[in-house]
Amino acid sequence: MDTLKFVALSCLAWACGSSAVAAPQGDAEAGRVAFAAACARCHQVGPSARAGFGPQLNGIVGRRAGATTDHRYSAALKNSKIVWTEQSLSRFIKDPEGTVPGTSMRFFGLGYTDRKVTDLVAYLRTYPPLQGRAKQQP
Ligand code: HEC
Repeated sequence: MDTLKFVALSCLAWACGSSAVAAPQGDAEAGRVAFAAACARCHQVGPSARAGFGPQLNGIVGRRAGATTDHRYSAALKNSKIVWTEQSLSRFIKDPEGTVPGTSMRFFGLGYTDRKVTDLVAYLRTYPPLQGRAKQQP
């Protein structure tokens, strides 16, 4: 009985809790379209993704800012100590310079609705971190 209680409690505090507080689900398919239109000229995702004008974005939710090894980041982003969450990612997409002053991501997300940003984040979540390649520090 005690064990069960413990499992239930840790579930609340940890695994189940984290999905329970997740942002409203976005539409990953709409996010794919938005990504292709607004992000893909600088960013890649998928098994063969590498840095282009910007860093590859596999596994970006949960990743430390500035952590890929094949992109030269601005000192601002590298030193920002951000770990990307849905919230910080959404803020950055809407306003890169306002979120990380001095970032080299020159992109004007102005006009992005919250809906579109949620969709973008839902799309990015479908790409897990690259496995078995030294592209990303843990
Ligand atoms: C004009 C090119 C360009 C466009 C368009 C662009 N980015 Fe970026 N992005 C960059 C660059 C360059 C960086 C690295 C910034 C730095 O080092 O300060 C970056 C960094 C990022 C990061 C942080 C990555 C990390 O490893 O910490 C995220 C997340 C990101 N971009 C998401 C997006 C999304 C989503 C879009 C589309 C809405 C987008 N970007 C559009 C150039 C771009």
